[in-house]
Amino acid sequence: MTIAPDSFDFVATLVRRRSAIQLDSGKEYLVESRLAPLARSAGAADVESYIRSVRANVTLHDKVVEALTTNETSWFRDRHPFTVLKDTVIPDAITRRGKHLKVWSAACSSGQEPYSIAMTIAEHFPDVRASIVATDLSEEVLAKGRSGQYSQLEVNRGLPAPMLVRHFERKGAFFEANERLRSMVSFRRHNLLDAPPLGGPYDVVFLRNVLIYFDVATKRDVMRRVRSVLAPGGWVFLGAAESTIGVDDIWERVPVAGGALYRPREGKAA
Ligand SMILES: C[S@@+](CC[C@H](N)C(=O)[O-])C[C@H]1O[C@@H](n2cnc3c(N)ncnc32)[C@H](O)[C@@H]1O
Repeated sequence: MTIAPDSFDFVATLVRRRSAIQLDSGKEYLVESRLAPLARSAGAADVESYIRSVRANVTLHDKVVEALTTNETSWFRDRHPFTVLKDTVIPDAITRRGKHLKVWSAACSSGQEPYSIAMTIAEHFPDVRASIVATDLSEEVLAKGRSGQYSQLEVNRGLPAPMLVRHFERKGAFFEANERLRSMVSFRRHNLLDAPPLGGPYDVVFLRNVLIYFDVATKRDVMRRVRSVLAPGGWVFLGAAESTIGVDDIWERVPVAGGALYRPREGKAA
């Protein structure tokens, strides 16, 4: 069955208001497939009647928004950013800030990104004390990140075997991030539409593969909030398909080793 246009509009508006994720018409199939498990576990006859109950019950709204987020992630995603982090960004931050660094992994999904940052630091800068604040809108992915536990299938997605051996312990069917990694990363709920998390200024911000879901005005506002907590000389990583070009001219795109980093233009720092 297909959901009624009115039901789709209700969900799309709710999701846009609470997360800024744009669900354009044509995404009815996505709403249906993401809400079907929620409808089933609520005992609703179908997605349409589940949406009717959501309309009448605000306590269900967060769940619906979370279900419409895309949490796709992997270890050392795209590889290149982690090479640049190791070769350029961390050495540069140490020169400016000493050996206590702060990193914000925004929209971190289930933790593969912040733990990949933690492994990079633990392996190559063992005497650096790093605190990595890992945030996301979805409580479900944050719980997974906090648990630090990943299945064989999940570790197969980009975690090199020697790193698995060095940084994880076997716990039954799962591999669990060791104490050292877990002590470097703290997971917090945070909506990119809100004021940035406390604990900055941050020397490095990872904001990858989330701006693509937002309209231009939201991208600009999110990036301005990032700038407000970026340490002087700090760097921002965006996803491979993302850029500040056409979004806001306060950002400079700096090509580095075949990819790009972002920083506020001279004279336009917060
Ligand atoms: C595709 S994942 C990217 C994960 C990771 N950064 C990476 O590149 O592998 C996008 C994440 O953005 C989160 N997200 C979407 N809208 C958000 C918002 N308004 N505030 C915070 N997180 C949001 C989703 O919950 C999801 O986990």
